[in-house]
Amino acid sequence: MSQPRTILVTGGAGFIGSHTCAELLSRGHDVVVVDNHENSVPEALHRVESVAGRPLTAAYVLDVRDREALSNVFASHPVDAVVHFAGRKAVAESVRMPVEYYDTNVGGTTALLEVMSEYHVHRLVFSSSCSLYGAAAHMPLAEDDRVAPVNPYARSKWMCEQILTDVCAHRPEFTVHALRYFNPVGAHPSGLLGEDPLGVPDNLMPYIAQVAAGLREHVTVFGDDWPTPDRTGVRDYIHVMDVADGHRIALEHPAPPGLHVLNLGSGQGTSVLQLIEAYQHASGRSVPYRIGPRRPGDVPELVADGSAAADTWNWHPIRDLARMCQDSWRFQVDNPHGYRTPGVPRPATEPQATTGPIRLHATPGSDT
Ligand SMILES: NC(=O)c1ccc[n+]([C@@H]2O[C@H](COP(=O)([O-])OP(=O)(O)OC[C@H]3O[C@@H](n4cnc5c(N)ncnc54)[C@H](O)[C@@H]3O)[C@@H](O)[C@H]2O)c1
Repeated sequence: MSQPRTILVTGGAGFIGSHTCAELLSRGHDVVVVDNHENSVPEALHRVESVAGRPLTAAYVLDVRDREALSNVFASHPVDAVVHFAGRKAVAESVRMPVEYYDTNVGGTTALLEVMSEYHVHRLVFSSSCSLYGAAAHMPLAEDDRVAPVNPYARSKWMCEQILTDVCAHRPEFTVHALRYFNPVGAHPSGLLGEDPLGVPDNLMPYIAQVAAGLREHVTVFGDDWPTPDRTGVRDYIHVMDVADGHRIALEHPAPPGLHVLNLGSGQGTSVLQLIEAYQHASGRSVPYRIGPRRPGDVPELVADGSAAADTWNWHPIRDLARMCQDSWRFQVDNPHGYRTPGVPRPATEPQATTGPIRLHATPGSDT
């Protein structure tokens, strides 16, 4: 199988997407982004180009469910493979808005698969999630362990994996990786790219970062009565740069046709209190916390068995928890207002927040 050159990245302006685009560009791939900026800003893409030192081929403001607009993108570029990040990801919101979550996450994936088929593009890397394991009886979790998704977000990811299983069974020309991320955190070492949640952070590390920076008073620890060593929730944190690297390898490593499901985690469990302590150490700041009640739908522990990715690719995440905290803190300090903080020179052509397949970059290569 030849190496894919032109990669279409959906949701490329988001947290994991932006780091993956930077990694792919740096390694010589041509990258086309589609994103409706529902949870991101175009500035992230200018910074991707700045850290990679190369321009994106193009970036389009569109909704992946818009088949016609998506089709126009495939008609305009020789897409070899797709990385599909676009979707909604907040668990609590998914409980309140299940239809929107299924529509975006499942509907977006089926629209993409239809257009890929139409243009004979058969290589896909799909963003799946450790959340589909639910409350498991043992740790660490391997890919063939039972799945038991407990909220609409996790069920939407599980439905997508089932759809991908059916597609690969029926269409042997497809090679699909479903990567089950555990908890991606941290930031690009340049301090230019990071997690910039709109509104109140839903994830723990960006929340801790804002408390350390004095922007929020305290962290609420959701439950100190879990069956874990210090009685707070345990998660498997993995540096977002390792996650980005995993996507590049999924694209570059030869793989037979079919669906390949792989965990992306560090294999290390870290409790909420341990994460707060590590962050205090990295930032030199105090991170006050208060104990609150458990959140509905939470589980005590999620830790990856990463041996399948290690065996398949001879690959291991290389950045430890201290590095995750240091890089997150650097992004917080350098970008107190997230991507609204001036970071890189503005492009000659201002991005247009318009619907439809609008190129952000009138002349590819003119930006940075
Ligand atoms: N961050 C995590 O902890 C985590 C863990 C497991 C899985 N995931 C999955 O990884 C993917 C990326 O996560 P992230 O943390 O980068 O999220 P993110 O919200 O930062 O990025 C998602 C991007 O997709 C875009 N988008 C959303 N709906 C769209 C649509 N209909 N059309 C086009 N673009 C759309 C958003 O504007 C955003 O830029 C998601 O699918 C998420 O479910 C994330």
